[in-house]
Amino acid sequence: MNPKKYHEVVCMSAAIHQVAAQSGCSVVVDVGSGLGYLGQVLHKSYNYKIIGLESKGCHTTGAEKRLHKTDSTMGIKNVTFELHDSQESMDQFATVIQQCCQELRQECDEKKNQRSAASGISGNGLKSSDFLMEKHWDTDNTETEKVLMVGLHCCGDLTPIMMKYFKALDFIKGLCCVSCCFHRMKFLDDHNSNCINFPMSCVVRKLCQELEWHPSLYGLRLAAQETRLGITFIFIRMFEIVRVLLVLYSCRWGVQSQADHEYHMKNVAYRGILQLYLNKDGSSPPLDKIKESLRELYSEQEQYFKYIEPITALQVTLQPLLEWLIYKDRELWLMEQGTNATVKPIFDDFISPRNLAIIADKKS
Ligand SMILES: C[S@@+](CC[C@H](N)C(=O)[O-])C[C@H]1O[C@@H](n2cnc3c(N)ncnc32)[C@H](O)[C@@H]1O
Repeated sequence: MNPKKYHEVVCMSAAIHQVAAQSGCSVVVDVGSGLGYLGQVLHKSYNYKIIGLESKGCHTTGAEKRLHKTDSTMGIKNVTFELHDSQESMDQFATVIQQCCQELRQECDEKKNQRSAASGISGNGLKSSDFLMEKHWDTDNTETEKVLMVGLHCCGDLTPIMMKYFKALDFIKGLCCVSCCFHRMKFLDDHNSNCINFPMSCVVRKLCQELEWHPSLYGLRLAAQETRLGITFIFIRMFEIVRVLLVLYSCRWGVQSQADHEYHMKNVAYRGILQLYLNKDGSSPPLDKIKESLRELYSEQEQYFKYIEPITALQVTLQPLLEWLIYKDRELWLMEQGTNATVKPIFDDFISPRNLAIIADKKS
C-alpha cells in the first residue's frame, strides 16, 4: 500500500467503524473493492465480516491472492459482481450478499467446532483474529445480518447506484462512500447536458430549473480536479504549458484524433505524454522532428500562456463549490428518502483531494 492509500484506508476504516457501531452492523460490504485493502484493514482492526464486491475479475483474483499471502481468509469474501442501476441487479446483489453471509457463518461454525474439539490442547493453531471473529458472530447468531455498504473512490454513477440500493434494501442499514470521477456519470443525451444522476434531489433539481443551469461534462470534470492545496502556482504555469503542447501535438499530428481527445478529456489529461512518442502505426517519429514541432506550437500558443494563472485561480475557486454541490445534492436526496445523512471530510485533502464522504443510516 502506498502512503496515500494507507492514509485513506486507515481514516476510512475509523469513519466506517463509527457508522457501523451506530447502526449495529456486523457485516461490511465494500463495493468496488479493488485489491481489497480497505476490507482487510477493517477486518483486522475492527473485526467486521467483509464482503468485497468488485466488477473486474482480475482485481478480485488479486485481492484473494494478497489475502492468502498475508492473512487468514476467515471473515473475508471477495466476489466479482457489478452493480447496475436496475431492479434485476439489485435482486442479484441481495442474493449474493445473503449467500456470502451464510458461507461466512458456516466457515465460522466450522472453526468453532475445530476449536471445541481442540479445547483441551494448548496452542490449537487458531489465530487471535479467528477467535475474535467467533466471538463477534456468537452475539448475533439468530439475527438477520445488518449490512453497512461502503465504497472508497466510487467513480461515476457508482455512489448514486449504491444510494438507491441502500434506500431499497432493508438489510442495508448504513452507507459510507467517498466518490471520485464525477465526469464519468452517464448523460441521457449526446450533448452531455442531461446527467442522469445529477441532480438527484428535488431541492437541487428545482434550483437548477429556476436558474436554468445544468452541469456540463466539463463542470463535472472540474468538480473532480485537484483542490487548491494540491496546486503550486510556481509549477503550474510550466506544467500546464507542457501539457497543452503535448495534447495539441497529439491532436495535430494525427497521433490522437479529436474523438480520442474528447474521450481522453473524460479521463486523465496527461496521456499525450505517452502518445507523443508513438505514431498510429506504433513507430516513433525522430526526436528532432518532435522538438521542431513542439517549438512551432510554443510560438503559436505563447500569447495564451498569460491566462494560465487566472484560469487556474478560477478553477481552484470553483472546484470545491461544484464538488460540494454534488455531495449536498446526494445528502438531500437521502434525506428526502427518509434516512439520516451527512457529508464530512474524512481525509487530509493535501494527501487525498477527494476527501469527502457521504455517510447515512436508517432512522430506527
Ligand atoms: C477507483 S477504484 C477504487 C478501488 C478501491 N476501492 C481502492 O480504493 O483501492 C474503483 C473500483 O470500483 C470498481 N467498480 C466500478 N464500478 C463498479 C460497479 N458498478 N460495481 C462493482 N465495482 C465497480 C472498479 O473496477 C474499480 O476497481
